[in-house]
Formats: sequence, structure tokens, C-alpha cells
Amino acid sequence: MTDCQGDGEGASTPMELYERLGAQGDKVRSLKSAKAEKAEVDAAVQLLLKLKIDYKQMMGQDYKAGCPPSEEAAAPDNGPAAEGDEDTVDPWNVSTTNAKGVDYEKLIVKFGSSKIDKELVDRIEKVCGQKPHRFLRRGVFFSHRDMHQVLDAYEKHKSFYLYTGRGPSSEAMHVGHLIPFIFTKWLQDVFDIPLVIQLTDDEKYLWKDLTVEECHRFAIENAKDIIACGFDLNKTFIFSDLDYMGASPEFYRNVVKIQKHVTFNQVKGIFGFTDSDCIGKISFPAIQAAPSFSNSFPQIFGSRSDIQCLIPCAIDQDPYFRMTRDVAPRIGYPKPALLHSTFFPALQGAQTKMSASDANSSIFLTDTPKQIKNKINKHAFSGGKDTVEEHRKYGGNPDVDVSFMYLTFFLEDDEQLEKIRQVREEIGPQTRSD
Ligand code: TYM
Repeated sequence: MTDCQGDGEGASTPMELYERLGAQGDKVRSLKSAKAEKAEVDAAVQLLLKLKIDYKQMMGQDYKAGCPPSEEAAAPDNGPAAEGDEDTVDPWNVSTTNAKGVDYEKLIVKFGSSKIDKELVDRIEKVCGQKPHRFLRRGVFFSHRDMHQVLDAYEKHKSFYLYTGRGPSSEAMHVGHLIPFIFTKWLQDVFDIPLVIQLTDDEKYLWKDLTVEECHRFAIENAKDIIACGFDLNKTFIFSDLDYMGASPEFYRNVVKIQKHVTFNQVKGIFGFTDSDCIGKISFPAIQAAPSFSNSFPQIFGSRSDIQCLIPCAIDQDPYFRMTRDVAPRIGYPKPALLHSTFFPALQGAQTKMSASDANSSIFLTDTPKQIKNKINKHAFSGGKDTVEEHRKYGGNPDVDVSFMYLTFFLEDDEQLEKIRQVREEIGPQTRSD
């Protein structure tokens, strides 16, 4: 505890805090090389992390060893850091100049969603009676809309259903696409509720240089990957838009209701459509919105339109559902709730998400273990310093090391993950043998 009193609160200038960070980094290194007690090393690492957070809060940018702060660089109170302003997040592009990835705190403010804080994670644990999924424990799912409302209703025995989807633009899905599906599977297991999965083969035909037949075939191929996640066969409905739109009058009725309540101006504002976009694109958002309303699926919910929908997805899909939530009360339906995930980074680094449209950035579900190993060893950005000497001196940086980031998504054991983080910080990835 005494160590923790030496946190950033006592430092009144950026330079003081910077120097404190340097000293604390030295302390962590010397404790580790002296093979000190685990508890002592852990406490020192915790304090180092806390100081780094304090520094970021004070400066609006990350602490970098060897780069002392200039006074002009200090962020004004509550002022946005320049980096974050360049983040682009929409259904087609995700990019940032920050090697650690998108500034998700700022995105919450920009999109007007709410943070998934500890209180909400604890509440989910209490209501479902299960240890929170690692994606909740580690902030992979970081933002939500109306999740408390879903839990309030669930506690009063009012159930809900899950809705998620995939735009089948490639034969195989990549590992990043699995994130919402893995989490959806956990939600279905712990709440024991129905799930609908939309395959927007129509969307991909409208946006990509692909034929209708190719998109439909990709939908079927991708459905196999999705089914392999292990959803409850009796409670899951997977559909291709090209098939279901023509087969379900109830679904199509909801599509036109939505279309009638959204103007061209609104979709231009939300999605950036221009006068030269085809009309298929302009009306498509209504098709992605329609599964948010329970009476689109009479075979599951009968004519009930009041069953709450919860949508797990990465935050790039939020524009569709901002539009949906705006329309819902105007057509007499409940607004869907959302759980947003961060992005699984591209092999080249967290400046972009793993994306099927850039094959080099991706690990596909059809890649063999050997191909995956090669891709990681050859292409995964490690954030290593320029020289081995510098690297030894300053340590590695797990915050930008792509292999380590991948482990935060997939390694279940929290303790093992923390151990690997500490090793990475101390000696960095260049000495790894795996
Ligand atoms: P699509 O095919 O681009 O992505 C499928 C799902 O994967 C998420 N995703 C990612 N998550 C983490 N890291 C990444 N690198 C990454 N890349 C993609 C997406 O957010 C999405 O949840 N239009 C949609 C299909 C769709 C949909 C939905 C998605 C239709 N209805 C409802 C979510 C919820 C699309 O093209 O997704």
C-alpha cells in the first residue's frame, strides 16, 4: 500500500511525473532482474501502470521513455488529444494514427453510447450467475446502449433475444469476425435465449464487385463458420437476406416501415452516401435494421413486436443501429440495445482492424496452423525498438505488440496473460522463441 501512495497525484508538473515514471520503470526492471518476490514485482508494475494512466490524463498522450514532455504538449483540461481526432470508425473504414489502436473512450463520447464499467460487468455476473466472459473482464466489449434496461426487464422475467450478423464478402471469415460471434454464443448460453443471425449477401452485392450468386454462395460458406461456434440449434435462426426477404412478408413489412421513416438526408448524414451512390445502398440500412424488431420473425415470436432485442457487434456497425433506435419509437417498437466490441487488430498493427478486404492483414478461419504461425512470425507487428540495446534498455511494449493483443482476446487465463505481459515489458518480443 505504501508504494501506491507514490502515484501521480503528488506530481504537479508533467516533468515531475515523467521523471517518476522513469524511476518506477527502473525499479520494476531491477526487481525483476533480482528475481524479487512476485507480490513486490506486481505492486511495482501496478504502480507503473497507474503512473502511465496519470501521465496520459495529464498530457493527453502516452508516456514514452526517452521523450520528455514539452510544456506546450500538455492537453488543455478535457481537451481532445490530436491523435484521437484522426480516428475513423464507420462500417467501411477503421483507422487511427495511434499504434495502440482507436481511442475508444473518445468514441463513446462521439457516438453518445455508454461505457461498460465495472458496475455493469458485476451486474451481468449477478443476473446471469456466471463468471463474466473474458471479453467483459478485459474491456474487449467496452460500450453499450440500454444494457441496464435489458437486465432490469430480465430480472422481472421479461426475456429478450439476440441479433447479430455478417456481410459475406469472402469465402472464409477471419479471426476478427469471430469476436462478436464468440461473445454472442456466451450470451446465448448464460441467458438461454433465441438468436437471429443475418447474412447480408444483398449488402455485399451492392457494395462489392461480386455477382449475386457469389454473394449467396459466400453466405452459405460463412454460415458454416458461424455454425461451428456452437450456437444452440433449437434457438438459432441464420438467414441470407437474398432468401429471407422474399420468403417473409412480415420481415419485408418492417423494411418498408423503416424506409418510410428515414429520409435521404438522414442516411446521407449517417452513412456519408452521395448522389452517385446506387439506390440499393441508400435503402439497405432499413434491411439491416429490420431484424431488431421481433415481429420480423413470426416463426419464432409469433406476432409479438414488443420483445427486446440485444445486438452484440463491433462498434463499426453502430451507425446502422443509431438509425434503427431513432426510427423504433416512431413505428411503435422498442429500441434495440447494443453491446459494442473493440477491433481485433490487423497483423500490421492496431492502426487498422483485421479486414477481409485486405488479405495480408488477416488470419482466415481456413488458414492452416502452419500458415497462421508463418503469418504471425513474419507479419505481426511487435513494436520492437530499433536496436537490441535500446530494446533491452526500454523493454517491449505490450500495448502495441500485435501478438500480445491477440492473446488478450483469446487466452482465457488472466494470470498467465499478466505474466506474459510482464515478460514482454521486460525483455520484449525479440527474444521470444515461439
Ligand atoms: P462484417 O461482415 O463486416 O462483420 C461481421 C461482424 O464482425 C465484426 N467485425 C469485427 N470485430 C472485431 N474485430 C474486427 N477486426 C472486426 N471486423 C468485423 C463486425 O462489427 C460485425 O459484428 N453489415 C454487417 C453485417 C450485419 C451485422 C448485423 C453485424 C448485418 N446485421 C447485425 C452485426 C450486427 C457486416 O458487413 O459485418
